[in-house]
Parts: sequence; structure tokens; C-alpha cells
Amino acid sequence: MNIDFTQANREAWNETAPIHAVQNLQDLLEHFRVSGYSCLHKPFEVERLQALKLEGKAVAQLCCNNGRELISVKNLFNAGRCVGFDISDRFIEQAKSLNAAANQDVEFVRVNVLEIPESFTAQFDLVYITIGALGWLPDLQVFLSTISRLLKPGGHVLIYEMHPILDMFEGDGDAKQNPLELKHSYFRTAPYIETGGLDYYGGKSYQSKTMYWFHYKISDLIGGLIQNGLQITAFDEFDFDISNTFARLEALEIKPPMCYLLEARKS
Ligand SMILES: C[S@@+](CC[C@H](N)C(=O)[O-])C[C@H]1O[C@@H](n2cnc3c(N)ncnc32)[C@H](O)[C@@H]1O
Repeated sequence: MNIDFTQANREAWNETAPIHAVQNLQDLLEHFRVSGYSCLHKPFEVERLQALKLEGKAVAQLCCNNGRELISVKNLFNAGRCVGFDISDRFIEQAKSLNAAANQDVEFVRVNVLEIPESFTAQFDLVYITIGALGWLPDLQVFLSTISRLLKPGGHVLIYEMHPILDMFEGDGDAKQNPLELKHSYFRTAPYIETGGLDYYGGKSYQSKTMYWFHYKISDLIGGLIQNGLQITAFDEFDFDISNTFARLEALEIKPPMCYLLEARKS
């Protein structure tokens, strides 16, 4: 069977956009009308971005969704050219409306991040990737080589992501289930096939379009960055959930790492 994973995931994300809009779009529009607003609330993330001295620097965000984080980076650090890339037509529309509310000049491009045009090669000082991006991509190696291609020499990639160990557990869906029960191998290679929707703001499941999630080990990521000429400059793991889907696991005293922040530099 020849599945177009990217097109399937695009349709699932387009279907989700109006559901998220009900949960957060009006609030975000109001927030961004206030000059300088930022939705980035973890001090360690802001400090790491601050250390990169982004004033006037070019920043790309891959899988930018509604653009709230990239517009925040622009607002906080007075960054130069900022470009957000996402596969979803509808989230790109939301990003453009938030950008207009913020009176900013962030560009948003509807594209598969595995196929970013050559015109963006070596254009960026920072490639920024956050919360729930990597798992949607059917080819991690192409993604990592794309990051390297987009960066100027000496540029950085910052990845603030859900920890792949979470792929071993089931998430909040079934309240009766032990959240620590292991359901999947850490060494799984088959994609996860999901039809329960993506309402991680409202917390409701619905019969959704079929979507595909890919598990990558931390070593796949680190090894792939190294192979693509990127030197790791920072790596940390944390004990809180950034996905809005593992609240029950987060509440336990005994728990796995739940997210990480990784920075690497193109040599
Ligand atoms: C979980 S959301 C990112 C949320 C964002 N970090 C935030 O916190 O607001 C993941 C995004 O990845 C996008 N995406 C999935 N596959 C993609 C691909 N192949 N190319 C570009 N974007 C993709 C989806 O459309 C979705 O907007």
C-alpha cells in the first residue's frame, strides 16, 4: 500500500484548525494586538533564545502551526526576517491573521517541510522547532538535512520537543488505564495510525481523518544532526508535559522524561 503520509496529515491538520480556533483564536488575536506580546512562558526557553542574540537575525520555524511562537520570537527579540513553514492551509491562514493582529511582517509559507524550496537555502541564523513537530514527518533524515541546508554557517537549530519516550505510553485518553503502563517499544519503527482527532486544547476525542505519527529515538535525532554537520551545544530533559496530552503521567511522582531542549550549531 502506497500511502501519502504528508497529504493525509495535511487533511487531518486542516480538519483540526477550526476546532483549535474555537478554543484559542480569539484570545490569541487579542493578546497579539498588544505590542510585544509573547506566548513563550518557560524561562529556560526564552533564555536560550536570548543567548542567541536574535536582533536583526533571520529565523525559520518548521511546522509553525498558527505561528504564535514565531511571532512571539519576532516580538521579544526584534528578529530580522522570520519565516514560518507549515503543511496546513488553514493554520497558515490563522498565522497570517495573528501576524496582522501583531502588526508584524513574519512570512508564512504553506509547504511540506521536507520540500522547502532551494530559495531558502542558507538564509537563516536560527531554525526553530517546537512541541509536536518531529513525529509528523515520515523521513527524519531528510528533515535533518533540510535544517542543515536552511542554516547559514555558524547558525543554530533549537528543538524544544516532546520526549520520544512518551510514545511508549498511551496518553490521557482512557482515565481508567494506568498511565505508566508500557504499550509500545522504544524501538518501534512502524508508524502510529490515529483517528481520534487532535483536540489537545479542548481534550475531546472525535472521529477524525486518518493521520500518521512516526517515532524517532533520541539517538536517531542526535546521530542525524551530527551526520548533517551540526554540533550539539546544549541538551536538557524535563519532567513536565508540553503536549497537553499526558497530564496523568505528569501528575505522578515516578515518571519518564517528558520533554527536552536541544541546541546545535552548524559548523
Ligand atoms: C503540534 S503542531 C505544532 C504546534 C506548535 N509548536 C505550537 O505549540 O503552537 C504540528 C504542526 O506540524 C504541521 N506539520 C505536520 N507535518 C508537516 C509537514 N510535513 N510539513 C510542514 N508542517 C507539517 C501541522 O500542520 C501542525 O501545524
